[in-house]
Amino acid sequence: MIKIAIDGPSGSGKGTVAKEVAKRLGFTYVDTGAMYRCVSLKSLRENIDENDEEKIVELLKNIDIRLTNDGKVFMDGENVSDKIRSVEVTQRVSKISSIVKLREIMKEKQRALSNDTNIVMEGRDIATEVLPDANYKIYLDASVNERANRRYKQNIEKGINCTLEEITKAIEERDYDDMNRKVGALRRTKEHHYIDSSNMTIEEVIKEILNLVGEK
Ligand code: DC
Repeated sequence: MIKIAIDGPSGSGKGTVAKEVAKRLGFTYVDTGAMYRCVSLKSLRENIDENDEEKIVELLKNIDIRLTNDGKVFMDGENVSDKIRSVEVTQRVSKISSIVKLREIMKEKQRALSNDTNIVMEGRDIATEVLPDANYKIYLDASVNERANRRYKQNIEKGINCTLEEITKAIEERDYDDMNRKVGALRRTKEHHYIDSSNMTIEEVIKEILNLVGEK
């Protein structure tokens, strides 16, 4: 089985790229961030305090998360693909994903998804923690300014009112949280093939990954 791990900060284009690479190779696509987002959504709906780690871990034991290859996310049978991207869910997810016990269970769930299938899995700790035996490890990066500009444009297109300064600040805060978690922090290692997508199109990034896979 072939495993491709793609790590990187929020807004680096991982999601779009990973989904398309999986599609072209006929592999299973897994967005691990969506799994953390489901727990965040469920904890909000059940009015669980974000600091109540025990209850949040308990929640994970009774949650059914299904990811489809075209990026849809189902939680307990409900299509929550849009709901998990809301501001409330996003604000809470950093805290949720820093719970050590929760990450241990997630890791097992994510590993299990890679059994018996060729896979493209994207997240923060995929090459370092979840699939250390991955055949290909990619770190997809982009400058803060570029990521903020991309997110700002997406929001404006969707009619979401915001300023570039707000978006930049939110990205910097999320980077800090992602890179400074005690467990499962986003970390670039020597084993990662590094791609800086700041001045690249999505298609160029996809091609670079496909070339890498084709070469070996
Ligand atoms: O990729 P994303 O923005 O949808 O991820 C949502 C959150 O989940 C983000 O704050 C980091 C966290 N996350 C994580 O801790 N580990 C992963 N493998 C993927 C995401």
